Amino acid sequence: MKNFLSINDVNDPMALAQEALAFKDDPIQHDLHKGKKVGFVFFNPSLRTRLSSQIAAENLGANAIVLNIGKDGWALEFEDEVVMNSDKPEHIKEAAGVLGRYFDVIGIRTFPGLTSREDDYQEKMIQAFRENTDKPILSLESSTVHPLQSLADLVTIQEHWKENRRPKVVLSWAPHVKALPQAVANSFAQWMNASDVEFSITHPEGYDLATEFVGDAKVSYDQKSALADADFVYVKNWSSYYDYGKVLTQDPSWTISNGHLEVTNQAKVMHCLPVRRGVVIKDEVLDGPQAIHLDQSENRIFAAQAVLNRLLT
Ligand code: CP
Repeated sequence: MKNFLSINDVNDPMALAQEALAFKDDPIQHDLHKGKKVGFVFFNPSLRTRLSSQIAAENLGANAIVLNIGKDGWALEFEDEVVMNSDKPEHIKEAAGVLGRYFDVIGIRTFPGLTSREDDYQEKMIQAFRENTDKPILSLESSTVHPLQSLADLVTIQEHWKENRRPKVVLSWAPHVKALPQAVANSFAQWMNASDVEFSITHPEGYDLATEFVGDAKVSYDQKSALADADFVYVKNWSSYYDYGKVLTQDPSWTISNGHLEVTNQAKVMHCLPVRRGVVIKDEVLDGPQAIHLDQSENRIFAAQAVLNRLLT
């Protein structure tokens, strides 16, 4: 695997999930990548991605170093042939070039601006890093996708699913107080479409995801009918793709409660976290027996370990 930027870098998602589960059984393998160095560059906040990726690298024997751009690093200029007399003292050409000299893999987290769909969906920052280093790039969540999260989600579904049939997996939009990226939803849809599950998406009108991510998934604006017989309900807010970055509704009837789960097949409830309790999902669900969000977070370690192992090999 040269880079891990989306599912398009993986030709066997189910096999990669199995590799992650194998690391979960036997995580400490310091001899695998002893002496190698992984740099994790964060343009945005993180709890899970930062810590799980560091733990994963250390489980593999690699040395993990985190750089918080904005706090610890220089503000970066991304425009070409610009006279750098503004507040950005370092150009991406030098920054990425230097990181490439220091690290065997470079992880990048960069959120979208949510003002220009064109800019965000071109993944300009990730592309700038790719163009200015020959070292593997690992997405720690980009403007449009969050593949490490989606791999952990697939691992969690595989871990929890014991029946001899395809599970019914529903991605349900939920309200939020602010505009959030489509990245987790886009990515989850891609990974589910590539997995052996029956996958559908439900959201209010106006929240359709880009068709390239929806793929063949069934889409419904009726949450209750979409949730019927679900085995897994993945809850996530996202802002509008077509009315880009806008919050069109905060309808609390979409907040997942125990009542919503009554029509499901005792569905397991998933969320990538952080989750706003009472806004996205009710406490009764998050504190109840059907919630598996902490398993997802734990599996972030082994997903990152499987991916780093491939990138470092
Ligand atoms: N789910 C996730 O990526 O969490 P963080 O933003 O805390 O890394």
